[in-house]
Amino acid sequence: MADESFVTLATNDSYVKGALVLGSSLRDSRTTRRLTVLITPHVSNPMRQVLEKVFDEVKLVDVLDSGDSAHLALLKRPELGVTLTKLHCWGLTHYSKCVFMDADTMVLSNIDELFEREELSAAPDPGWPDCFNSGVFVFRPSIETFNQLLQLATEKGSFDGGDQGLLNTFFSSWSTTDISKHLPFIYNLSSISIYSYLPAFKAFGTNAKVVHFLGRMKPWNYSYDSKTKTVKDDAHDPTMVHPEFLDMWWNIFITNILPLLQQHGAIKDTATGVKAEEVAEAVSHLSLSSPAQASSPPPAMSSEERKERWEQGQADYMGADSFDNIQKKLDTYLQ
Ligand code: UDP
Ligand code: GLC
Ligand code: MN
Repeated sequence: MADESFVTLATNDSYVKGALVLGSSLRDSRTTRRLTVLITPHVSNPMRQVLEKVFDEVKLVDVLDSGDSAHLALLKRPELGVTLTKLHCWGLTHYSKCVFMDADTMVLSNIDELFEREELSAAPDPGWPDCFNSGVFVFRPSIETFNQLLQLATEKGSFDGGDQGLLNTFFSSWSTTDISKHLPFIYNLSSISIYSYLPAFKAFGTNAKVVHFLGRMKPWNYSYDSKTKTVKDDAHDPTMVHPEFLDMWWNIFITNILPLLQQHGAIKDTATGVKAEEVAEAVSHLSLSSPAQASSPPPAMSSEERKERWEQGQADYMGADSFDNIQKKLDTYLQ
């Protein structure tokens, strides 16, 4: 199986945390395939060393950024232009077939059977199911495809400013031609679907094989209580209706990844030399060696923009529109 690999991507130290948990979950699933991570120059040296421990191949690539602010603004995710870097996965031509997985995914059981599928296999996107979600997909590395994708990106751009828009335009027959290329949703269960269709989650969720923490809030942005081994729900986050997956992510992080980070000095002094359990709390706001690349807070929004988003049903439940903030506002009116 040396010519087949799982592949992920991390352009900064925050997403490296996700890649490490994903890699560790794949190892725990006893995959027979290789593990590859694409990184860009911003990833710090200690983090690269830790990646070497978990992945068979750590490949440095250059950043491909759409810089397409208009489309990215529509998606409300200005940071996702950089996801075009994902296209480098087609350059891994020493493999005949690969499965790409976002760094914010985690496997719950062995998924090697995905290598029986053909390019381009993927699961529907929960926001627009005629599009596939590009967080998990089967592909065949090819320089020709890579060049065609780059050409499409330069000539036409991407309708969402990121890789998913571009890939859906390129593999546009996905939704209509071959049902075997429609991966079951259990291979890319996005956390938002849990609360947007809770009865379906209750009926089928136990079969889930891959969880995708899609959206602005990533597992590494939450606080974790090491005593209760649960993630704290300070902001009454609606995705927390089933926090088990977040707790699982953190459990892998604390057990398998944190010791490696400490060993390689990837955590600042305040957190080193202390027992893993004790630093769990500190790690939730982890300040890694490269502060510039650590998780940046979501971009500030004008109150007009916030109102617009609220009206579109896209409240920032974890931030400005959190329950606590709403209550504070109501209190000021009552006074
Ligand atoms: N990514 C990255 N750096 C970034 C943003 C994204 O490395 O600054 C990679 C990472 O693998 C991530 C993927 O691109 O999982 C897609 O982005 P994200 O998962 O944040 O998008 P979502 O699934 O939330 O739409
Ligand atoms: C999505 C996908 C993600 C992709 C992003 C930008 O929502 O989950 O993998 O990078 O859109 O296109
Ligand atoms: Mn993702």
